[in-house]
Amino acid sequence: MRTIAVVNQKGGCGKTITSINLSAFLAREQRRVLLVDMDPQGHATLGLLTDAVHPSRTMYEVFVEEPGARLTVLRDVILTVRENLDVAPADILLSGVPEALAGQIGREDILSDALAGLRDDYDYVIVDCPPSVGLLTFNALKACSEAIVPVDPSFFALHGIGKLLETFDVLAKETGHQIAVRALVTLYSGRTAFAKAVADDIRHHLSGRHFDTVIRYSVKLGEAASHGIPIAHYCQRCAGFEDYEALATEVLQQEATIEGHAVLGIADDHYAGPLTPVVTSKEVVFAIEARHAAQVQVMGDFNDWNLDGSEMEPGDGIWKKVVNLPPGRYRYRYIVDGRWQSDPLNAAVEPSPYGGHNSILVVDQQFAG
Ligand SMILES: Nc1ncnc2c1ncn2[C@@H]1O[C@H](COP(=O)(O)OP(=O)(O)OP(=O)(O)O)[C@@H](O)[C@H]1O
Ligand SMILES: [Mg+2]
Repeated sequence: MRTIAVVNQKGGCGKTITSINLSAFLAREQRRVLLVDMDPQGHATLGLLTDAVHPSRTMYEVFVEEPGARLTVLRDVILTVRENLDVAPADILLSGVPEALAGQIGREDILSDALAGLRDDYDYVIVDCPPSVGLLTFNALKACSEAIVPVDPSFFALHGIGKLLETFDVLAKETGHQIAVRALVTLYSGRTAFAKAVADDIRHHLSGRHFDTVIRYSVKLGEAASHGIPIAHYCQRCAGFEDYEALATEVLQQEATIEGHAVLGIADDHYAGPLTPVVTSKEVVFAIEARHAAQVQVMGDFNDWNLDGSEMEPGDGIWKKVVNLPPGRYRYRYIVDGRWQSDPLNAAVEPSPYGGHNSILVVDQQFAG
């Protein structure tokens, strides 16, 4: 199950439109999708359900136990929108959650815990976040291993992104939870030089951490949402349809690198030199000594920093994982009993935007395969 938060504390940059339409296109591709509405404005809920449907229970009940009532689990609030597409609805009540849970231990893990019970039910969970950084957004970030950050090419966009990256930073430092973050340029009107410049800036500053797809300004997107329909079912010949279809394709392409294999790791031999190790075989053996560890994992660019499938196999105190990697440069880290660490045998490191250092490995084009 891939878990993707759509997040930006800046309002009106296309989070909800992206959540709805990415979810709908993934569902069209036969992926089982759950959209979790974590915004008290409830726009994703309104954008998917027609006026006739009034959810009787919402995300609020998942967070706050009503005295005397039966415990509500996520499954109880989920509504089916259409084939392969479900929504966990929200409304204004959700805004009362931070106050209701003030001081409660573990209040930032509620969504994460709730999703754990649905691991086998969905291929994708998309979480639409509110335009603020608070308890609700933190819940979303802790529950997700990926984030899409919609950025509209406005004056404040880049400033905002810096702030948001700081949030991911704080999260990683405080909890060890890392998220693969990608920016998505939205509301793009290629007509103005300013929009072009901002989009270029984003690609430049976030190289490797943005989607190639750009979402153009398209009136039909707003129209479709106001009718409670994703663009995929509203209008097939408009920029909004083409762009969100392209975004879904890009997201699906990442499955190939995310599923199954774990990360990269150490060079093929014991390496302790100052240069980035160059591996001359596609088959990379990650190996780390950890005699008393109960669990060791390896994560990196190769598996999109995903914990799924990242476990290493122990043998005589050495933990190993063999990964087939196409030529390229990879960042990775080990997680020994929950603690992140760079590769002790690899001196090639670079600072991680989330704190600490990532190890670096290169699989050489010339020899690979
Ligand atoms: N590509 C687009 N073209 C035209 N209109 C768009 C596009 N994306 C979003 N909109 C419109 O812009 C407004 C804001 O979009 P959206 O609600 O998705 O932003 P948001 O980031 O979720 O906002 P908030 O921060 O309030 O939750 C909406 O009216 C929406 O219909
Ligand atoms: Mg929104």
